[in-house]
Amino acid sequence: MEKMKVGIVGCGNISGIYFKNLCTVFSNVEVAACADLDADRAQAKATEYPGVEVCTLEQMLANPEIGLIVNLTTPQGHYPVSMQAVAAGKHVYSEKPLTLTRAEGQELLAAAEKAGVLVGNAPDTFLGAGIQTCRRLMDEGLIGTPIGAQAFMLCPGHEGWHPDPEFYYKKGGGPMFDMGPYYLTALVSLLGPVKRVTGSARISFPQRTIGSEKKCGQIIDVEVPTHVTGIMDFASGAIGTIVTSFDSWGSQTPRIEIFGSKGTLSVPDPNTFGGPVRVKLKGEKEWKEMPLTCGFEKNGRGLGPSDMVEAVRAARPHKANGALAYHVLDLMHAFHDASDQGCHIMLESTCERPKPMPEGLFEGKW
Ligand SMILES: NC(=O)c1ccc[n+]([C@@H]2O[C@H](COP(=O)([O-])OP(=O)(O)OC[C@H]3O[C@@H](n4cnc5c(N)ncnc54)[C@H](O)[C@@H]3O)[C@@H](O)[C@H]2O)c1
Repeated sequence: MEKMKVGIVGCGNISGIYFKNLCTVFSNVEVAACADLDADRAQAKATEYPGVEVCTLEQMLANPEIGLIVNLTTPQGHYPVSMQAVAAGKHVYSEKPLTLTRAEGQELLAAAEKAGVLVGNAPDTFLGAGIQTCRRLMDEGLIGTPIGAQAFMLCPGHEGWHPDPEFYYKKGGGPMFDMGPYYLTALVSLLGPVKRVTGSARISFPQRTIGSEKKCGQIIDVEVPTHVTGIMDFASGAIGTIVTSFDSWGSQTPRIEIFGSKGTLSVPDPNTFGGPVRVKLKGEKEWKEMPLTCGFEKNGRGLGPSDMVEAVRAARPHKANGALAYHVLDLMHAFHDASDQGCHIMLESTCERPKPMPEGLFEGKW
């Protein structure tokens, strides 16, 4: 099978797993080039992966052999880099969030449609074995009609470990824009789109102190809410709750649970690809662990862009797609807007549930 050549922009913290998987796991892509504002970072990756050339973004976009740009810049870079990629006629897959604002997201999707290229977006964890097994069980009707769902992501923030954690507390960061995409994408893929939300959000600590080595002791001024709670009315009629927080020193809440008319489904951590998947059906005394019935339990990030490349080849829709990512972006803004305005917000966007992953796929092969 002919591989699509890929250029990676942004060679920071998360890029390691993308380089590893796109270079060694997924069979339909070939990483040909990488770029970063910090040339040393790009060079380090090129040295680790021979065959990958260091270049500028402009050189990468001018290379006619490269078909897909993987945008791993910090949130402020998502819109400008993705727009440039689309303008150069490349497909683009970006880390989350899609863009900072709704207007930017709409502009990006419209430009891509006009240019006839695809926009894909992280997360792709919902395509892994854990959440795809949940999808299959729900589609088969195991827990009956969904009534409600709850999702929790509470942690002390990222300044204790990330070498450059400032972006987590600036526009495009905060626990909802940083971690919400995993939870909301999983929920939308399982329950369908949301039609109305409300929310409450607060900044608990106006300043944070960096604890990681390089910048230890430096202060970050917090510009975005760091404890955000949302309530969602899904178009299907189910009601969901989500809590995301960088202000919690500990939590024993589950990741995601879905309550159906015939039973409850415990969904695995949507920031991972595997299980466990557990159910407790009406009348049963114990939780039951369900076998994972789909592939890609461990492969990790890169499955989304690899699916995009396969979608181009097979002329079918890709799964971690722009419409889904835009709906998730719209939802995250709507929680904050509802909190600011003290009201419910009707969502203007919607999307389709991406089709389930095909059964019987080998890891990394299509
Ligand atoms: N770190 C994680 O664990 C993690 C996990 C999942 C997703 N993400 C997401 O991945 C993205 C990147 O996060 P990170 O932790 O790797 O950040 P990082 O700061 O470690 O790396 C980002 C890199 O992008 C480069 N960059 C920024 N703007 C650029 C531009 N316009 N052109 C070229 N290079 C540019 C920076 O120089 C830096 O090297 C974020 O959107 C984040 O939400 C991070």
